[in-house]
Amino acid sequence: MGIQITPSILNADFAHLGAEVARIGSADWVHVDVMDNHFVPNLTFGPTMVEALARSTDVPLDAHLMIEDADRNALAYVEAGCGSVTFHVEAATAPVRLAREIRSHGARASMALRPATPVEPYEDLLPELDMLLIMTVEPGFGGQRFLDLCLPKIRRARELMDKHGVETWLQVDGGISLDTIERCVEAGADTFVAGSAVYSADDPDRMVAELRAAAERAAR
Ligand code: DX5
Ligand code: ZN
Repeated sequence: MGIQITPSILNADFAHLGAEVARIGSADWVHVDVMDNHFVPNLTFGPTMVEALARSTDVPLDAHLMIEDADRNALAYVEAGCGSVTFHVEAATAPVRLAREIRSHGARASMALRPATPVEPYEDLLPELDMLLIMTVEPGFGGQRFLDLCLPKIRRARELMDKHGVETWLQVDGGISLDTIERCVEAGADTFVAGSAVYSADDPDRMVAELRAAAERAAR
């Protein structure tokens, strides 16, 4: 799998989500930020709304669960129709069991790390995951500044994936723009979430294309 661009709708107009998703037709995935006001100090939407969104588009949904008790709450998002479900390791008691459950219900299983969570303790879990998400801001809000201190972790994650010979995708999320995407590619990321960069652009789909072109250039 090459470069994938995954716009986040967190900065879209929530009153017109179906139309907002239709503005990013060339996206590989639609990134859906689920927040519960406990794991992060912000509240977005739950499975009912995600299910309606899944019905409104052919682009697969990439759910990013910023919620407590992921073990009990994640499967609802598989059932809502998401093609990929990311839980935070900091909110999961049994991440191996959870990843297996997500996969066995037919979605891609992904695990996220907050900026201060190291990747090394999870080396042996990589074969259980379809994707690893390394947050490049503290989760909770769109429009924050990219944290360069996460770049060495992206590099170390890529080295561990190469060492284990796994096909796990390496996603980054937070502050991704035309200014920051290249350093993430150089560090080893291949899947890019971009919220405010896409939805503050006059033409969001053109921004998706520009981000893709910048990432592909950096990958060569
Ligand atoms: C933040 C979310 C991100 C957010 C990214 O907690 O997980 O997906 O939408 O927004 P930008 O690209 O504006 O940093
Ligand atoms: Zn996100």
